[in-house]
Parts: sequence; C-alpha cells; structure tokens
Amino acid sequence: MKILAANSNLPLARAIAGYLEVPLTDVSVRRFADEEIFVEVHENVRGEDVFVVQSTSYPANDNLMELLICIDALRRASARRITAVVPYFGYARQDRKPGPRTPISAKLVANLITQAGADRVLSVDLHAGQIQGFFDIPTDNLYAAPVMAADIQARYGERDLMVVSPDVGGVVRARALAKRLDNAPLAIVDKRRDRPGESEVMNIIGEVGGRHCILIDDIVDSGGTLVNAAQALLDNGAASVVAYITHGVLSGGAVARVDGSALKELVITDTIRPTDAATESSHIRILTVAPLLGEAIKRIADESSVSSLFD
Ligand code: R5P
Repeated sequence: MKILAANSNLPLARAIAGYLEVPLTDVSVRRFADEEIFVEVHENVRGEDVFVVQSTSYPANDNLMELLICIDALRRASARRITAVVPYFGYARQDRKPGPRTPISAKLVANLITQAGADRVLSVDLHAGQIQGFFDIPTDNLYAAPVMAADIQARYGERDLMVVSPDVGGVVRARALAKRLDNAPLAIVDKRRDRPGESEVMNIIGEVGGRHCILIDDIVDSGGTLVNAAQALLDNGAASVVAYITHGVLSGGAVARVDGSALKELVITDTIRPTDAATESSHIRILTVAPLLGEAIKRIADESSVSSLFD
C-alpha cells in the first residue's frame, strides 16, 4: 500500500500515514511559472494499491486539478489500484439544478475524478448521501459522527443534551448523532420567509428550553447558518449551544463571525486544513479524522468491511 499526498492537507495525510505506519510516497507536486501543475512520483508504484489524499477545499479548483494530475501520473506509472481519498469533497453543494440553465457541478467533478483514472473514492460526510451515486466506481462515505459523539460524551455527557439540525435538510444526520448519544432528543431549526421581501423567521421545532444544544451540520462556510441558529435557540430558552461541524470551510470573515457569536464553541474536524485564524480562535476546536480514514484505508487494502467501522 502507498499513501500519496498532494498539497491541500499535508498534516492530515501525514497523520493517516502515521496511523498506518507507512511513509508518505515520495512525490513532488509543484507549479510551472505560469501556475500549471506538474507532478512527479519519485518511487516505483507499479502494481501498488495507491491512496491519494487530497481535499478539494479552498482553492478548490487548484486542489481539484492537483488531484486529477496525481491520479493521471499514477495511472501512467501502472499503479494497480488508485483510490481518491477526498476527505472534503468540494462542489458537493452543487448536486442538483437549482434553476434552469444551471450546472450539476458535483456530477461533473465526479466524472473528472473517474475519467482521470481513479478506481475508488473515499470521502467523509458527503453533503448528500446520493453523491455516492454520481460515481460509477465504488465510493465509501465515512461519517465523522462517532468521533464527534465520543468528544460530546467526554465533554458534555453529564448535561441535559438536545441534538439540533440547523435546517430541515440535516435531520437525518442529526438523528444519527442523537442515536449515538443514548437517543438524545432532537430539534430542528426551520427557516421561513412568509412573504417575499420579509426577513427570515427562525422557527424551532422541538422544546429546547433549559437544554444544552448540540448543533450538527456537514459544512460551516460563512458561518451564517450556524450563528443565526445558535441565536434562535438561545432566544427560545436553550441553556447553551455548541456546534459540531465536519468540514470547516470557514470562508471570508467566518472565524470572526463565530468568535463574536453566542456559540459556546465550534468543533470542526481536520478534513480541511484549518487556517491560522481557525487554529488561533479560542472558540474553535479541531478533532482529527486521521484514525478514521487510516482505518478505512487499511480495511479497503485488506478487502475487509468498512461499514462495520460504524456498528
Ligand atoms: C447547507 O445545506 C449546508 O449543510 C450548510 O448548512 C451550509 O453550507 C452552511 O453555510 P454557511 O456557513 O455559509 O451558512
């Protein structure tokens, strides 16, 4: 087995390699003067089972292109099997046509990865489970929920917990986490605009009064969804609000928005390499998914069950 890392998340790739007790494959992924990407694998990979670790996070297009070119280099070097390990699958939010004459970019990206020569894909908390079906190659979608549940039990296990989905679309994810927390009760934030032009009203479905709320979501990008949901929960009598979000996209002023919010803390994972601002924030804590990904890679290489990781 070989683990090869492009540039988007080297600390995570190193941690995965550490878990598996294998060295990272010797590769250079660099730029020509005009920013074209050039990849050179410096060791033999003929006949090897190779896992390429690359999140397609910011800068999404550069990181995607690095992934595609790494896969192409490995295919032409006769690797036996290539698995694209994409802890954060960028473009996933574009998984349907929101209006006429718009693309389904998540499908296009899935096609690109497949056409480049990937034999399998491994990702974490895909924005929508059905994105697995965008790939016509085996695709494993891991869940960060067990990592989060262990942290919640250790930090907040003694409290009167309530798991909250910040929108109707996230209910399945929230229910799965609640199940892992001894069937904690569930609430949903329902955003509604009664008439066009009127401001959005946040209705809370569920009795959150006096509860310690755990907001769960797959992505925090601008932080708007999260910060507004936290405020609505407190306005409805919640005792405190913390958030567990798998992918810390945290664009623009998101870290400052979280720092200035009513959230007690935001816990993200390292599927995306955290920025300095995120690492330095006293409101943001980072959990690692390296053992989860490392174990899944080990099981894929051994042809054993990946789903049993979540039993
Ligand atoms: C949306 O469906 C996602 O699950 C997230 O809620 C969304 O991407 C968060 O975006 P933002 O942080 O910009 O509100």
